[in-house]
Amino acid sequence: MIKTIIEPFRIKSVEPIYFTTTEQRIELLKQASYNPFLINSEHVLIDLLTDSGTSAMSSRQWAGIMQGDESYAGSPSFYRFEKAVRDITGMPIVIPTHQGRASEKILFSITGGKGKYFISNTLFDTTRANIEFSGAEGIDLLCEEGKHPSIPAAFKGNMDVDALKQTIERVGAANIPMVIMTVTNNSGGGQPVSMQNIKEAKAICAAHNIPFFIDACRFAENCYFIKLREEGYANKSIKEIANELFSYADGCTMSAKKDAFANIGGFLALKDEALAMQCRNLLIITEGFPTYGGLAGRDLEAIAIGLNEVLEEPYLQYRIRSIEYLTNKLIDAGVPVMQPGGGHAVYLDAKAFLPHIPPQQYPGQALVCALYTEAGIRSVEIGSLMFGKYDETNNLIPAQMELVRLAIPRRVYTQSHIDYVAEVIIEVFAKRNNIKGLVITEEAPMLRHFTAKLKPVE
Ligand code: F0G
Repeated sequence: MIKTIIEPFRIKSVEPIYFTTTEQRIELLKQASYNPFLINSEHVLIDLLTDSGTSAMSSRQWAGIMQGDESYAGSPSFYRFEKAVRDITGMPIVIPTHQGRASEKILFSITGGKGKYFISNTLFDTTRANIEFSGAEGIDLLCEEGKHPSIPAAFKGNMDVDALKQTIERVGAANIPMVIMTVTNNSGGGQPVSMQNIKEAKAICAAHNIPFFIDACRFAENCYFIKLREEGYANKSIKEIANELFSYADGCTMSAKKDAFANIGGFLALKDEALAMQCRNLLIITEGFPTYGGLAGRDLEAIAIGLNEVLEEPYLQYRIRSIEYLTNKLIDAGVPVMQPGGGHAVYLDAKAFLPHIPPQQYPGQALVCALYTEAGIRSVEIGSLMFGKYDETNNLIPAQMELVRLAIPRRVYTQSHIDYVAEVIIEVFAKRNNIKGLVITEEAPMLRHFTAKLKPVE
């Protein structure tokens, strides 16, 4: 039997990538204040900053773009989009937004506010920021397995449901506008959440009359893991699994920039008509009319088609396998990584990679900079630069984990790109003792990792 898993597509259009020298990269990084978010992408060779909005669209999606109907109201493109979302989520109400965080902003502006608590397995950074911006507080209740990068487990994205019960007791159900399950759990390593965990969390919420929401950015990757790893799902289609997953939810937010292969877009899907009415009112003053909501008709077409393509198993098999391939190559070379491989990214454990750099000197960011300097690979820190907070005396309260995420854009890079990335990381690992920590010289009060300026420790 043939075992090689190949890319289930062929390439019709290509885009050049640009090489730089080590000397140039040292200078470019300095100019960008040691924050690769501030580097021009033409100076990046392999861009693993994010899997968001970076997918290669299919020929069917590009054909759909030409069919986009740009009517202000009642565009048939909207109805095709609405049908695609309903078919997967079963939610009757579909509100298009320009991206995931726009859905979050609308939802939390209405349901959030001072004295409110939003509970999650792990809130993504923009989700947390939108919650906090409303005056509410976000609480992450990641399961114990999820907190140990080097110990493999099937569903490390799960929520600690006992902690959920205790937290509801502690803060009071009336103060919890919703519980949000992020699938897959991006900040926790792209790890999946089991159907069992979703059912348990839902049951607890239902018993306390708390709405249960899904942050659905990477729902298809999560469903594929359920098919592979959870008993009873091996013979179900991804669509059937997705239908079940969403059946437990009262609503969901989605960034179509991930598992819908779109370069922009998102939605909010709901069951509650009264909440939907409030959301639509806010949508009209911030995003646009309810049948386009911040998107062009052509974007709605691309999303509708992408949502169907992402359910195809040969694609998901290739997708998950390519992440696993890179993860395993690194494990074989002794590089500390989050195990097992996640759905959309490989996560390096910077705490174990650079034990000589304390959290106050941002080991994750130091590793991000080293990968760029070595070979022009751009990655992102998911650690104390992203999530660290200060106490009253201005000391850093570090994040739970110091991770570096190498997010793989969908259908973009080939296996030789991935082999190259593995070789570079292994090379940087061999030289790890020369890597120095960083200190912040300038930062914004919220989402500081996007714009922070840093410099190497003397
Ligand atoms: N929720 C999760 C789990 C995400 O990963 C993201 C975005 C969002 C919400 C917000 O969606 O970008 O369309 O506004 N994650 C990107 C990333 C940015 O790189 O992981 P958005």
